[in-house]
Amino acid sequence: MGLTFKNKIGTAAGLDKNGEYILALSKLGFGFIEVGTVTPLPQSGNPKPRIFRIIPMEGIINRMGFNNLGIDNLIDNIKKSNFKGIIGVNIGKNKNTSIKNSVNDYLICIEKIYCYASYIAINISSPNTENLRNLQYGILFKDLLHKIKKKQKELHKKYFKYVPIAIKISPDLSIKELVYIAKQLIKYRIDAVIATNTTLDHSLISGLKNSSQKGGLSGLPLQQKSTNTISILSKNLKNKVPIIGVGGINSITSAKEKIASGATLIQIYSGLVYHGPKLVEEIINKT
Ligand SMILES: Cc1cc2nc3c(=O)[nH]c(=O)nc-3n(C[C@H](O)[C@H](O)[C@H](O)COP(=O)(O)O)c2cc1C
Repeated sequence: MGLTFKNKIGTAAGLDKNGEYILALSKLGFGFIEVGTVTPLPQSGNPKPRIFRIIPMEGIINRMGFNNLGIDNLIDNIKKSNFKGIIGVNIGKNKNTSIKNSVNDYLICIEKIYCYASYIAINISSPNTENLRNLQYGILFKDLLHKIKKKQKELHKKYFKYVPIAIKISPDLSIKELVYIAKQLIKYRIDAVIATNTTLDHSLISGLKNSSQKGGLSGLPLQQKSTNTISILSKNLKNKVPIIGVGGINSITSAKEKIASGATLIQIYSGLVYHGPKLVEEIINKT
């Protein structure tokens, strides 16, 4: 990505959607902070309750639906934070923007955030915004990559600053779909891929309290699925596009597994909820 990280572990998107805790999170030791998902306009997300713990399996189901205060508010917060470390900004589309016009929402966000982000993450894998995941397939995917690379080139020229772009993908893709994605990521010279977002596969938690809640599942029940996705990507990307591994990291062993399967950097969310900040320190010291 052309960036130097002080360590491999960062916060996953959704933990600090509006960039309100950037300095506090960095003091926990994280080598990078990913804020967002933010959208061009503020929106309230889905009605509450919208987040549920699956306690015996260290899982979380969420259907937040991109509740956020919008990209302009995030820019103010980044400026105010005076943070000097690596900050990724994860962007998405507003609920009311049709899938046909969705690329425009990403372009608006890229343009606004370009000068304030160390890297930009394109979230096309949240299961809680209708049809968003369609952007991962076929012509829609190619069109998105083409347009964001064009925008990046234009802004690179304008500001004499190259801001890498990462694409965040779902763990629910088939091998064939992952092979296609890897091919396009190389072709369009995308700077990194974040694997993975939450899963719609709730089979590992069936019968447990809250297991039938609608939404994306994260934490331990996602761990293996996410690692498999990283392995397939890694085989097909052949070191041409770095992988940021995320999904169910809750220990030093699971952090090492992500790295062994091909991730250069890792992120956590649910593991922090269940194990607290000590986990961050342990992973930094042992990976
Ligand atoms: C409550 C909650 C909110 C999330 N919000 C976002 C989000 O806004 N954007 C995004 O890309 N991922 C979001 N995620 C997904 C995480 O960034 C991460 O990809 C996923 O939870 C897997 O990591 P984990 O098992 O360590 O939690 C969210 C996850 C949770 C639990």
